[in-house]
Amino acid sequence: MTQASILVARAIFPEVLAQLQQVFDVDHNQDDVVMSPAELQARMQGKVGALTTGSERIDAPLLQACPGLKIVANMAVGYNNFDVDAMTRAGVLATNTPDVLTETTADFGFALLMATARRVTESEHYLRAGQWKKWRYDMFAGAEVHGSTLGIIGMGRIGQGIARRAAHGFGMQVLYHNRSRLSPELEGACKARYVDKATLLREADHVMLVVPYSAASHHTIGAHELTLMKPTATLINIARGGIVDDAALAQALKARRIAAAGLDVFEGEPQVHPELLTVPNVVLTPHIASATTQTRMAMAQLAADNLMDHLLRAQPRTPINPEVLR
Ligand code: 8YV
Repeated sequence: MTQASILVARAIFPEVLAQLQQVFDVDHNQDDVVMSPAELQARMQGKVGALTTGSERIDAPLLQACPGLKIVANMAVGYNNFDVDAMTRAGVLATNTPDVLTETTADFGFALLMATARRVTESEHYLRAGQWKKWRYDMFAGAEVHGSTLGIIGMGRIGQGIARRAAHGFGMQVLYHNRSRLSPELEGACKARYVDKATLLREADHVMLVVPYSAASHHTIGAHELTLMKPTATLINIARGGIVDDAALAQALKARRIAAAGLDVFEGEPQVHPELLTVPNVVLTPHIASATTQTRMAMAQLAADNLMDHLLRAQPRTPINPEVLR
């Protein structure tokens, strides 16, 4: 019997690829060439499934050109690279990788918050440049993290993980804003208080963005929102590029309208707004919030399991549009 064909659109762990190769005819991309939409469409021809990352867009034109496609398994919890409505209309199952990255990503949110508030990378650059000649009382004096007020925008699993770390580990007051309010039990576990967005921006010493990207969340933080924040505040984005207006943020950082920012994601990444590269009071990392070996392995395995469980047993683990299964 000929095996079903799938595409693994980017390089993945060889041991996960080997599992897929045992049961599918796999067109892989271990050279990790980022494909244009036309190249992706060409490579998807004749495939019943694909394993993608955030850089592959699955939209109506691609789906029209690939009528045999049954599932696209994203190796990410976020899936703004999918047009889910178009996938559902085309009867294509979409899956993502929730849960396996929650705690690791929450850890990184905290790492970025600490590095930003305590000016870790800025001071390291100074040291490496040979500028450290003497101690001074106010040298790289930053903002307190423990005991301060953290405002979290987006209170899903990762937001709650950050809230627990903040409240229980650092004695912080936690405010949050979200589309819907958490249950009293969850609010209690996170010691988090629901407020409107403007209150959160006005009262927080540190603002953390963990909201999924959509048309509604585009530029959740823009020029106006930045004016509401304290001049001593920090802003951390571990969510998606486009949640923050990066040009407006660069201006605010330059003018010191807020103290500092920590960014793991960018509008148009891997391009970074050129002004952000020149301001000192920003910590920049290349979209690595989920990047521990263990977690990336778990994400790849879950994406592969979704492909195998759907195509071989019609029982995917983490469907985004389960209505396709009915
Ligand atoms: C991924 C992420 O590494 O899961 C997500 O949504 O942003 C990251 O964990 C990235 O999207 C690659 O697919």
